Amino acid sequence: MVAVENGGEEIVVREYDEVKDGSQVEEVERKCEVGPSGKLCLFTDLLGDPLCRIRNSPAFLMLVAEMVVEEKKVVVGMIRGCIKTVTCGKKRSNDHFKPLFTKVAYILGLRVSPSHRRLGIGLKLVCKMEEWFKENGVEYSYIATESDNQASIKLFTLKCGYSKFRTPSILVQPVFAHRVKITRRVTIIKLSPTDAETLYRHRFETTEFFPHDIDSILNNKLNLGTYLAIFNDGLSWRGVDELLASLPESWATLSVWNSKEVFKLEVRGASRVRRLLAKTTRFMDRVFPTLQLPSVPDVFRPFGFHFLYGLGGEGPLAMKLMKALCGYAHNLAKQHGCGVVATEVASLEPLRFGIPHWPRLSCTEDLWCIKRLSAITNQDNEEYDGDWTMSPPGMSIFVDPRDF
Ligand SMILES: CC(C)(COP(=O)(O)OP(=O)(O)OC[C@H]1O[C@@H](n2cnc3c(N)ncnc32)[C@H](O)[C@@H]1OP(=O)(O)O)[C@@H](O)C(=O)NCCC(=O)NCCS
Repeated sequence: MVAVENGGEEIVVREYDEVKDGSQVEEVERKCEVGPSGKLCLFTDLLGDPLCRIRNSPAFLMLVAEMVVEEKKVVVGMIRGCIKTVTCGKKRSNDHFKPLFTKVAYILGLRVSPSHRRLGIGLKLVCKMEEWFKENGVEYSYIATESDNQASIKLFTLKCGYSKFRTPSILVQPVFAHRVKITRRVTIIKLSPTDAETLYRHRFETTEFFPHDIDSILNNKLNLGTYLAIFNDGLSWRGVDELLASLPESWATLSVWNSKEVFKLEVRGASRVRRLLAKTTRFMDRVFPTLQLPSVPDVFRPFGFHFLYGLGGEGPLAMKLMKALCGYAHNLAKQHGCGVVATEVASLEPLRFGIPHWPRLSCTEDLWCIKRLSAITNQDNEEYDGDWTMSPPGMSIFVDPRDF
């Protein structure tokens, strides 16, 4: 527990107590916009479980900041953190590369009640969380924030010593009232978690941020499946084992995570005209599904979504296969009553042009900031000299669905 004086009032930072703090934390969450205020804002509904966004990680902690207001102890802020092992580089071993792993911590869900901002509470929460990271041997801590969230960026870069690291893009596709048509030239195969793990470890293990515990993600009940797309031309079915042992020239894969069961989102601040227009597009799409009209889902009430992760592929036609996979994922999300399908890919990701999305709903620059907490150096790294924070970005990044 840490206590600080603030203008005569004491702020206590302590571990979240599920029984005592649940409703107060949800209250703060409801009041906090994510991102800049003043235009359309995104709010989070935690569905009665403030730990929902971190409880699937190997190690996690949630802290709350508490103050005495009118003789009552009130929660005015919170922060979540999780620790895991991920790939941070690669090393040559004979004719191939081997991944180098590091212990990282991810900070998410930092919120301070609007009535208590600029009192140093956010800073205290981050410092206390970093203490826990260090106690647990973490080498790097990172956060993701919108590139126009000045409060968050200034807090982390100016006050906490983080530096700008990667700028992946969040791509969001609305779930229409109609099913998306998928070309018949493509076969989509659902892989078992074991086969998916084989494919991921074989092909993606040297991608930065690849989680060492990929098996626990693939076996989690929130994981709806890993799908592999290939062209049918000349394909004679050889079973998954043989297929994975010798993939065709072009192939693509992705996995679907059911974020709908974890938390919901809501867009607030839209005018009545905008809402009405959206409703009209939905009505038209429902009445004339064969026209495949792009309609705006009802994102002005809490809505759930599916997150696509582990996107990748190879070959000259991989982009077409990725498009087919995204169509398949769209139809799955429609079946589950989701509002949108979202994914996050590296800014240099070659397959990003095969991922359908609406630029107005997407975020081209999600800013990831990083800080080195201790120096457990990977001396034999092929790409940079020990310090990951100084390394150039790769073509791809593995975005863990538990972090989104
Ligand atoms: C970001 C947030 C957590 C900051 O909490 P806070 O308790 O107000 O932050 P602090 O008082 O500890 O501020 C520390 C420093 O951060 C920076 N900062 C914080 N809010 C700022 C703002 N609105 N504008 C510019 N800089 C800001 C300043 O450098 C500040 O130091 P200073 O007050 O000495 O100038 C809070 O604004 C919030 O909950 N926002 C909504 C949710 C969100 O965006 N979370 C971040 C997601 S990663």
